[in-house]
Amino acid sequence: MKKLTCTVLVLALVSGLVFAGGGKDAGSVVLNKDKPLVFFNRQPSDPTTGAIDMASMNWNDKTYYVGFDAAGGGAVQGKLITDFLSSADAKKIDRNGDGVIGYVLCIGDVGHNDSKARTEGIRKALGTWSGSTDPGKVKEGSVVVGGKTFKVVELEGKAMTGTDGSTWNANAATEAMGGWATKFGTNIDMVVSNNDGMAMGCLQASNYPAGVPIFGYDANADAIEAIGAGKLTGTVSQNVDAQAAGTLQVLRNLLDGLTGADVYTKGITTADQYGNKITPAVDYKADVKGLFALNGPVNSSNWKQYTAGNRDAGIKKSAAPAKKVLLTIYNSADNFLSSSYLPALQYYAPLMNINLTVVQGDGQNESSCLDKFTNLNNYDAYAINMVKTNSGRDYTDKLKY
Ligand code: BGC
Repeated sequence: MKKLTCTVLVLALVSGLVFAGGGKDAGSVVLNKDKPLVFFNRQPSDPTTGAIDMASMNWNDKTYYVGFDAAGGGAVQGKLITDFLSSADAKKIDRNGDGVIGYVLCIGDVGHNDSKARTEGIRKALGTWSGSTDPGKVKEGSVVVGGKTFKVVELEGKAMTGTDGSTWNANAATEAMGGWATKFGTNIDMVVSNNDGMAMGCLQASNYPAGVPIFGYDANADAIEAIGAGKLTGTVSQNVDAQAAGTLQVLRNLLDGLTGADVYTKGITTADQYGNKITPAVDYKADVKGLFALNGPVNSSNWKQYTAGNRDAGIKKSAAPAKKVLLTIYNSADNFLSSSYLPALQYYAPLMNINLTVVQGDGQNESSCLDKFTNLNNYDAYAINMVKTNSGRDYTDKLKY
């Protein structure tokens, strides 16, 4: 019996075949179903209820989510707006002097929890929240402008869906803004958007009412520049560097065979074996197996800190063994993912010796991503950004064999 075990072990070592589970030894064979899988930016969840899709999150013990604190971010955006109003000149803000602050709202995707959290945060801060994130489901609110209380009315809230069906669509925002400026005239005192792409889209409208305050979210490079130029009033940083580095660090840790709390602490709250550590604080929530970056308000007082090129000096070139990761992005035309997230990934991946293959979809059909989620045996791990937040299973099904 002993002899037999020994012979099997020797054979396994000679052939270089060590079965799935470890993945530490060079030449080991790990089945796709046992490889690390990180969902990012689009948390597996029910588009209607927002409930986290724990079946996808529990796909294997190496499955995690990396994102940012969406609910906290909604509150940060709401406070950014009310802080601005509280010290603003009421005569300038209330353009037609009717004692009512009218605003229009660009909604990104009614089924995306980031979008919902921002709509809720904005409406709660302005008192227009009626318990729903849907377009039009609002009540009259109130807010302090320059020491005086004003009524607040959400003139219109609209989901910005492109003609091709893609969500968070900046062109749709340009068009909507053009229509709003004509329809509501000087009743519009403020423009609020679930992201920077759509806010910048609004500013593109030829009849954008000059000087009307406008708020976005993401701290994309062009939005930061627009704050510097006095065109955009404010945005929120969801700390893209911490998220992109976090996604890669969790993968790195799993690929290095770390387990338990080491997966979400090494290189994140304590230095990893290569001496790397992400600088900003990142929270781990065990119940949803997620790592969450924090948000920060950006306006004319601090925009310079957010100018492009401020990468995290806590991550340096490491001597980690090279690994291959296949990464999907739901929409190649998404402003945040293409102009902020992807460049950050491309900066940190080589430092961690991760060779990234990036495939991108069209933002409307899951198949546009899934059809490129192929040759799976060639990769050591996967990072997934889905078109629809409830599509997790479509990806894990492909990893079954
Ligand atoms: C960003 C949006 C982006 C979306 C894509 C959000 O977190 O703020 O700009 O369109 O992610 O999933």
